[in-house]
Amino acid sequence: MEKEVLSILDRRTNATYDLPLYKGTVRAMDLRRIKTAPDEFGLMSYDPAFMNTASCQSAVTFIDGDKGILRYRGYPIEQVAVQCSFLEVAYLVLFGELPTSLELNSWVDSITHHTMLHEYIKKFLEGFRLRSHPMGMFISTVSALSTLYPEARDVHDAETRKLQIYRLIGKVPTIAAYTYRHGLGFPYVYPDNDLSYTANFMNMLWKMVEPKYGANPVLARALDILFILHADHEQNCSTNVMRSVGSAQADPYVSVAAAAAALSGPLHGGANEQVLNMLDEIGSKDRVPAYVEHVKAGHGKLMGFGHRVYKNYDPRAKIIKQTADEVFKVTGTNPKLDIALELERIALEDEYFVKRKLYPNVDFYSGIIYQALGFPPEMFTVLFAIPRTVGWLAQWQEMLQDPEQKIARPRQIYTGYGPRDFVPIDKRGTKATTSVA
Ligand code: CMC
Repeated sequence: MEKEVLSILDRRTNATYDLPLYKGTVRAMDLRRIKTAPDEFGLMSYDPAFMNTASCQSAVTFIDGDKGILRYRGYPIEQVAVQCSFLEVAYLVLFGELPTSLELNSWVDSITHHTMLHEYIKKFLEGFRLRSHPMGMFISTVSALSTLYPEARDVHDAETRKLQIYRLIGKVPTIAAYTYRHGLGFPYVYPDNDLSYTANFMNMLWKMVEPKYGANPVLARALDILFILHADHEQNCSTNVMRSVGSAQADPYVSVAAAAAALSGPLHGGANEQVLNMLDEIGSKDRVPAYVEHVKAGHGKLMGFGHRVYKNYDPRAKIIKQTADEVFKVTGTNPKLDIALELERIALEDEYFVKRKLYPNVDFYSGIIYQALGFPPEMFTVLFAIPRTVGWLAQWQEMLQDPEQKIARPRQIYTGYGPRDFVPIDKRGTKATTSVA
């Protein structure tokens, strides 16, 4: 088959360039051939916020935002969410195939045996004041693991990488649970290796004086499903950070901490906490129309609505809504659900939201379930970070093994001054020349 080519006529020089197309893209480096003089730098592409730039090739997750499709390694999210356990999905996301039962047992065993935290980490957590935000504690503690495992810096050794993957996936629930207990001033609970990933997490969160914690199986499964839905989401903001920091060959602990820092922002994973704050602010169903008008008038955003890629209903939000029904059968309904449903109904009929293709995203309903499960809103983003650690690590591995990847280093369009001479301080006058933004 003939190669697909894009012909570009440069009207500045009347030269034409044939740029080969690759999987629906032009290579930005090919643009550099387009120049008006041999010593010129050549064209660059300008794409703030990566609105239309593929930064990598990836075989992990597929999203069709217009059709509302999400697949992990080719498997539809609707199927894996119902039929797999979280650790089974983690294996799939990381290694590319569903595990055999032998592989799954060995994988679960490896993760289970890396759930303990070093006692130094407990002391490290003691340094945080009582009402510290759990996400800040989570980010710092994951980063601190780097000091305990210096061998992790050998990012090109496959076996070393695998060990850090076990450790990180094993330890993030323990760190999350410790940040929660720290906030309450309760003693930390050690992991229980007899329990599943999520049941053990619940044990570390909520065990008090009972000799053995018994997690409610419906709630443990609901948490498992929520974890599956959050496992990966291709090149989102935090994954881009993971790849970018990892491209400098930083170790996986500091790279995951950096990714988690990106996740904490209210436009990304921090949105789930903000949704609950918004529902609190609205207060009751009858106040929803006024709130929507307020947003349309330019005052803030509807948190949990909109997405860079999905211009259709987020498939994860659909599954979360179904999971909510199961959870509420056990916990009783969260009164915020009525406000959320009304908000969704009104927004989906409103021209402002319809025109902009703004639909509920994964964060819209997840907080309502988390709250019914007993989590305070400040824990919500930590609950997102636990499963997303899997996606970050899968993308990190893929990046390190991709021969085309190098240290991530974008270009810029310089808009500052041309050269000018230094002015000594006694010649700068007294009037302020700058305003600190
Ligand atoms: N409420 C009201 N208006 C909105 C919203 C919203 N939630 N989201 C986007 N818009 C408007 C926006 O003002 C803009 O309008 P106009 O064209 O008149 O200027 C238009 O829709 C396009 O929005 P954008 O900001 O250019 O879109 P983006 O792709 O840059 O942003 C987003 C995507 C998710 C950051 C944004 O929709 C948002 O801030 N949503 C609320 C926060 C949120 O729920 N974040 C979680 C995202 S999903 C999970 C995750 O990634 O962690």
